[in-house]
Amino acid sequence: MARLIIETEKKKGKINKNIYGHFAEHLGRCIYEGIWVGKDSPIPNTDGIRNDVIEALKNIKIPVLRWPGGCFADTYHWKDGVGPYEERPTMINTHWGGVVENNHFGTHEFFRLCELIGAEPYICGNLGSGTVQEMQEWIEYITFDGTSPMADWRKENGREEPWRLKYFGVGNENWGCGGSMRAEYYADEYRRYATYVRNYGDNKIYKIAGGASVDDYHWTEVMMREASHLMDGLSLHYYTRVCKDDWSIKGSATEFAEGEWFSVLQSALYMEELIERHSHIMDKYDPEKRIGLIVDEWGTWFDVEPGTNPAFLYQQNTLRDALVAGIHFNIFNNHCDRVQMANLAQTINVLQSVILTEGEKMLLTPTYHVFDMYKVHQDADLLPLMMDCGEYEFDGQSIPQISASASVDNEGRIHISLCNLHPTESAEVTCLLRGNNRSKVKGTILTDSEMNAHNTFDNPSQVKPKPFDGAVLEKEELRALLPPKSVVVLSVE
Ligand code: AHR
Repeated sequence: MARLIIETEKKKGKINKNIYGHFAEHLGRCIYEGIWVGKDSPIPNTDGIRNDVIEALKNIKIPVLRWPGGCFADTYHWKDGVGPYEERPTMINTHWGGVVENNHFGTHEFFRLCELIGAEPYICGNLGSGTVQEMQEWIEYITFDGTSPMADWRKENGREEPWRLKYFGVGNENWGCGGSMRAEYYADEYRRYATYVRNYGDNKIYKIAGGASVDDYHWTEVMMREASHLMDGLSLHYYTRVCKDDWSIKGSATEFAEGEWFSVLQSALYMEELIERHSHIMDKYDPEKRIGLIVDEWGTWFDVEPGTNPAFLYQQNTLRDALVAGIHFNIFNNHCDRVQMANLAQTINVLQSVILTEGEKMLLTPTYHVFDMYKVHQDADLLPLMMDCGEYEFDGQSIPQISASASVDNEGRIHISLCNLHPTESAEVTCLLRGNNRSKVKGTILTDSEMNAHNTFDNPSQVKPKPFDGAVLEKEELRALLPPKSVVVLSVE
């Protein structure tokens, strides 16, 4: 039995829609094949971008898309990716399998993709192996409206008007693949590079500093102390695995028993502690919460699908991933005073994807459906929620059985998202909606009889949302019976 109290009249602040953001890197089959097939492909496309993917991504209202990496970003030289295709140099994607990168998907193609799916572009610049000048010129190329070497070159390449660019990352994982720097050194480098990330005309850039890996609180401390005056956001990366303390034990994406179900959900819940502890440090230097915590890489990281290139990070996606997504969104929503953006790693064919492709075939994963169900929280107001729920115990350890968050949208509808983490026991939820004057409740559920249920190209609809009729509303009291291993979103109106 779980008891919830939701204060329907007390708004706690806006849930930034960017919490439902994405990340697409030049890695494996994410960009090439997953998004970009080229204009001459037999796969139906718009200017080289797959139509089926455009439609699917538009439907979940992706607010913001981070590109071109990841580790790739700190090896990427943007000038290689503009101009006529036949003149673009080919390079080696050293980080991700040493495969050939023909640079056909570059700046113009990225902005076209964002335009087609209605997402705000978020570019991650190259601090690790690029120069200050190169970074400055990229911003000039994209945003300068006037006569200058870079703006003129953009026009020659077919784009007269500048684009709007709001989000720019000054490097990625600069403690690792982005230059193996110490926090103290990166803080100075960040200050130098960020100085030249200029606002041309009225294009105001929101600058995001490369942040900590997982629980590196020293990194956050140093960055906030030394460079907070020059940043708008500070990032954080954390991946969910079977064993959060050992990278060599990632586990299988599809073949698992209850032990791995439990440990993956437990490791997803760790995001709560990470956000609280990094935010606590940020609060010390930025009590007004001007600077956003930008969780620009999160998601599950399992062993690759057997028989696929280990450097391509291609994994299947099950109901367990859906629960991981639901847990993360509830955590991000509940911390929306500090978490201003989050980006799932990664959109297509890499890690915890929302879409998988095989040639002309495409399928939507359970994680896709959670994005779809939770999109009602985008830009809604968070409502205070208190919860007293039972524990899910396994092998001497326990985690809360329920994960939840609630918001009210600008038409007055309340949305409550609930995850029942227990794989075999249903959960009876009683919720006091204090101050409620709405009379109807309806809902959507994502569940299956198997923990590892997933969609395949032969059976793409095994896991998909269905209407949920297990909730009853009587004035201020809402009761619901959540089936085991389920994600439910209720709408009270
Ligand atoms: O998402 C895959 C990789 O994980 C990214 O390139 C990198 O930033 C992180 O280590």
